[in-house]
Amino acid sequence: MGQIFNLRRIFNPPPALAPVVFSPVTIKVPMAPPGLFITFEGMDGSGKTTQMHRLAARLRALGRTVLETAEPGGTPIGTKIRRILLDAANQELSPTTEVLLYFASRSQNVDEWIASALNRGEIVLADRFTDSSLVYQGCGRNLGVDTILELERIACRGLKPRLTLLVDIDAETSLARARARNLAQPHCETRMDDQSLEFHRKVYEAYHALAAREPGRVKLVDGRADVDAIERQVWSIVAAYV
Ligand code: TYD
Repeated sequence: MGQIFNLRRIFNPPPALAPVVFSPVTIKVPMAPPGLFITFEGMDGSGKTTQMHRLAARLRALGRTVLETAEPGGTPIGTKIRRILLDAANQELSPTTEVLLYFASRSQNVDEWIASALNRGEIVLADRFTDSSLVYQGCGRNLGVDTILELERIACRGLKPRLTLLVDIDAETSLARARARNLAQPHCETRMDDQSLEFHRKVYEAYHALAAREPGRVKLVDGRADVDAIERQVWSIVAAYV
């Protein structure tokens, strides 16, 4: 099976003032690039970011080259998009604008960082990826799975994680942790944390439905365990892939 990638975009992004190319060369390349793409998913406050950093440190200690990235954000442009998405002042943001911005950040990340790192054979760890859009926008915002898959086709061009670690905590724990964190370190990136408990419950259910649908890729890790125990669980899964 092959996937049509626009190699010009992946390997050689045009400079800002390059002439418009109407018919770029497209070549068939293998579906899976040589690197390893692992994502971390979970409710807000699940501790996935800490676990991603720990896994990266462990892999680097084994001599592997690791790119750590996050969504929304990652690239400098993605970081600007993140500010719009998470700013609590942006209450008018419509669900459609929201999902397009999440995918705008992702597309930039794929084009600027992720695809080339994977093509160099590196390990890429991402704190959230398309699964977050599936559960938060597809289910939480009721935009539907088909909309998300169509946007994924455009923004990611077939790039899917080989392994997804779902750090599992329930909606109540998630909201309590996120709000405690926001109180302890006041900041304005709280627009998503401010959603209702009902919204977060829908996200939780959607994550579990995803794990049930794709058990080969999405592996559940108990996010209520202590940090070292979670790290051991993560490693017991990842060791088979590296
Ligand atoms: P994140 O920075 O991971 O926050 P936290 O550390 O609290 O988990 O994610 C920011 C918020 O954006 C989070 O509430 C989840 C949400 N989100 C979406 O709704 N859709 C998406 O596609 C992504 C990537 C994140």
